[in-house]
Amino acid sequence: MWRLGLGSAPLMTHVLEPFRFASGVEARNRVALAALTNQQSHEDGSLSDDELGFLEQRAQGGFAIVCTCAAHVALGGRGFEGQLGVYDDALLPGLERLASALSARGALPIVQLYHGGSRSPMRLTGQQSISASDVAFEADSDPPRAATPSELAQLVDDFVAAAERCHRAGLAGVEIHGAHGYLFTQFLSTTTNRRTDEWGGSLRNRARLLLDVLEGIKRRVPASFLVGVRLSPEGFAKVTGLDLAESIELAGWLAASGADFLHLSLWDAFADSKQRPGQHPLPLFREACPELPLVAAGKIWTLPDAERVLEHGADLVALGRAAICNPDWPRAATAPDFTPRRPPLSPEELAERGLSPKFVEYMRRWRDFVA
Ligand SMILES: Cc1cc2nc3c(=O)[nH]c(=O)nc-3n(C[C@H](O)[C@H](O)[C@H](O)COP(=O)(O)O)c2cc1C
Repeated sequence: MWRLGLGSAPLMTHVLEPFRFASGVEARNRVALAALTNQQSHEDGSLSDDELGFLEQRAQGGFAIVCTCAAHVALGGRGFEGQLGVYDDALLPGLERLASALSARGALPIVQLYHGGSRSPMRLTGQQSISASDVAFEADSDPPRAATPSELAQLVDDFVAAAERCHRAGLAGVEIHGAHGYLFTQFLSTTTNRRTDEWGGSLRNRARLLLDVLEGIKRRVPASFLVGVRLSPEGFAKVTGLDLAESIELAGWLAASGADFLHLSLWDAFADSKQRPGQHPLPLFREACPELPLVAAGKIWTLPDAERVLEHGADLVALGRAAICNPDWPRAATAPDFTPRRPPLSPEELAERGLSPKFVEYMRRWRDFVA
């Protein structure tokens, strides 16, 4: 166990200790790289040297789990320019390169499986998007249409095929992107899901697609291949219609369906629930699912920050912006006087941290990040 000298009161920390999943797979510490869209892939979704270099630097820097950006499982679900793809076997060579480079540096490489649903713009996909219902995500975005049952069956197949591809490529696992207003959130949300068939109405119905995908993947990969799910436990910004109590119930179903971990995207891992002021979401999930490994992300910068999140009930933490600024965060955090670099960073400083000009440009969307 690491001891942190914080003034006269040393803090015991588990953050840098290994974590063992139920399957026996071991992460070398409890720090993951959160999925970060970076727009560095080639136009066809194949891995670029820039994207590989960025992720390799974090694996070298000690991150135990290195997750790719959201990667589309079908061309119709593409959400970003320069997005990594996992929709076709033609993309296998890049995935294999990713798997071997990150594993060689001691990390567990995982891919975030993604479909944008209504947030897949026609200018990128050339087709009208599908979603739970014909409800646009934003007033000015392309209107989607409600997916038919056979399209939903196809979506399940696409996710399963993408996960199998990742397994074949030698990756350690996948994270199903069920957060942030994309396809699965559109089904879970009572704002965007107006269906009256078996994919709408009750929570069980709204969760059907996600559970079918999870179970479909688990049936096709060995137990040692990690299959996690990322959720937004309640609404935020433009994402509405999510309910904390429902998310907690869903977590239990995900555990029962074999999820290897649940990743809660909190945006601020120190804030109380908006729906239950005075209560932090993590202990609620911990209590509901004592055995399910929980990952939490949101404004975690320092080792004591990470420790506090573990004390709230998480098993692992995921770092986004802190990992962009500090590629070697887990290694550097062992030093007693470690203070992470925080934004703003100049484009030159970001280049030193493995960000290509495209990624630096994308980071300008995040307020006060690029100097
Ligand atoms: C540039 C950038 C890209 C992101 N891309 C994704 C993504 O592809 N998938 C995802 O689930 N979350 C994505 N997020 C959210 C992060 O994974 C993370 O949850 C969020 O940034 C909060 O953590 P932080 O405060 O440590 O940055 C992104 C965040 C940033 C800053």
